[in-house]
Amino acid sequence: MKQYKYSVFTDKIEEGIRKGLLKPGDKLPSVRAIKAEYTLSTSSVQSGYDYLVFRGLVQSLPRAGYIVAASIDSEVSSTALNAIPRDSVFREKVLLTSNRLEHSEQASLNVATPADVFIPQKLVLKTMQEVIREKGASLLRYYPNNGSNELRDLIASRAALYGTTIQADELVITDGALQALYIALASITSPGDIVAVESPCVFSILEVFASLGLRTVEVPVRYPNGLDIEYLAKVCADYTIKAIVVTPNFHNPTGLLLTDEQKQRIYNIAVEYNVPIIENDIYGDLYFEGNRPSNIRSFDTKGLVLTYSSFSKTLAPGLRLGWLAAGKNFSKAERVKFSIGRSVSPINQEVMIKLLNSSSYDKHLRVFRSKLEFQCIRLIEQFKVSFSEEFKLTYPKGGYSLWCQLPISTDVDLFYKSCEKEGVYFTPGDTFSFTDAYDSCFRAVFSQQLTDEHLNAIQRIGKVLR
Ligand SMILES: Cc1ncc(COP(=O)(O)O)c(C=O)c1O
Repeated sequence: MKQYKYSVFTDKIEEGIRKGLLKPGDKLPSVRAIKAEYTLSTSSVQSGYDYLVFRGLVQSLPRAGYIVAASIDSEVSSTALNAIPRDSVFREKVLLTSNRLEHSEQASLNVATPADVFIPQKLVLKTMQEVIREKGASLLRYYPNNGSNELRDLIASRAALYGTTIQADELVITDGALQALYIALASITSPGDIVAVESPCVFSILEVFASLGLRTVEVPVRYPNGLDIEYLAKVCADYTIKAIVVTPNFHNPTGLLLTDEQKQRIYNIAVEYNVPIIENDIYGDLYFEGNRPSNIRSFDTKGLVLTYSSFSKTLAPGLRLGWLAAGKNFSKAERVKFSIGRSVSPINQEVMIKLLNSSSYDKHLRVFRSKLEFQCIRLIEQFKVSFSEEFKLTYPKGGYSLWCQLPISTDVDLFYKSCEKEGVYFTPGDTFSFTDAYDSCFRAVFSQQLTDEHLNAIQRIGKVLR
């Protein structure tokens, strides 16, 4: 069964473009013609065209329908197979996505960290002092290689609260989520192997693939439903995929959340092709409504899912505290962890233990979630009133970021120059792929403190582009 009704015609257009039968500038059938040919509703046809526009393949011309915007060089599943050396761009991208130039500097809307004002600084620093008083010199020794047993127990018990079975003795405490990903990949892949990953995908994850010498196949994340699962199945059929790396809960950069049914389908594909899933759940606690979403791990009966997360996005990135539930790959994972830094700083582990043992972490999460949601809504509203109707954006239900696409006719250089002039920064789309599919997209982060200056700046940028 097709996941999207519109793929009956979007697949054909995509294929036509790929085979060179449709060339940039060629006029595409009207919405009415497609409706009649495929017996689809207007909204399905519209969504299909939106999707092609979002992918940068098709351009929408005001009152003149759709034309082909770009050519695709090679076959679908091989377009994204890349091992592009990224060393030359690394420094620049690190600056764009994570660093602040000075300790005191306010970050702009390009940095996916909690704003200083959203970190419960007093709570963390007070807890640190208590820990130092109580534990004294024992904090200066090596802690167990895989982390404190108490912390591992606490993480496993928290996961059980939202239906995810994680055993304390399969957990490796890591220096943040990125290290957990590194350990997971290094445990189950070798240089030259191919991994499947969402596209767009946050730069830091792509960088881990590059440094491990892995090749990637990028699987599109489509708005509004998220990962294209049929595409993933095709990729697994066409290639020997050694791992599927996904962020099912509030994916960075789109903020999209997969349903339980979608998680189950991804798991079924992994079972069918016997491919491990490496599941990133770093944003799972940051939902805006309802209950805490599940993990693909909750569907795992065969030990195929390695789940990881950290407290970087929910509490403070400077604690450098994350974890990997390595399952049957635990022995390999603990060796990799040992080789890249033995154990995580004891003081930070003890701080986290103290916070998780009290109600203060959950209290903080409740407040933080509502602040994130408030800022997300304000940012979306500001984009909508400031930019033209062809400007597209996602509507996240949690997490940190939304994904925006400038109308195809936008002068992208002018956009970034205006951002620079106004002092408001977004993360450029090309950061999120080894391909150039997202040149007209950008990520806007709402975990930084959104000020009136930011909002006014967005309005002025919108005016320049109109
Ligand atoms: C999806 C995702 N994974 C991992 C990381 C890195 O997390 P950590 O600071 O815990 O290594 C980030 C943020 O930078 C992220 O957005």
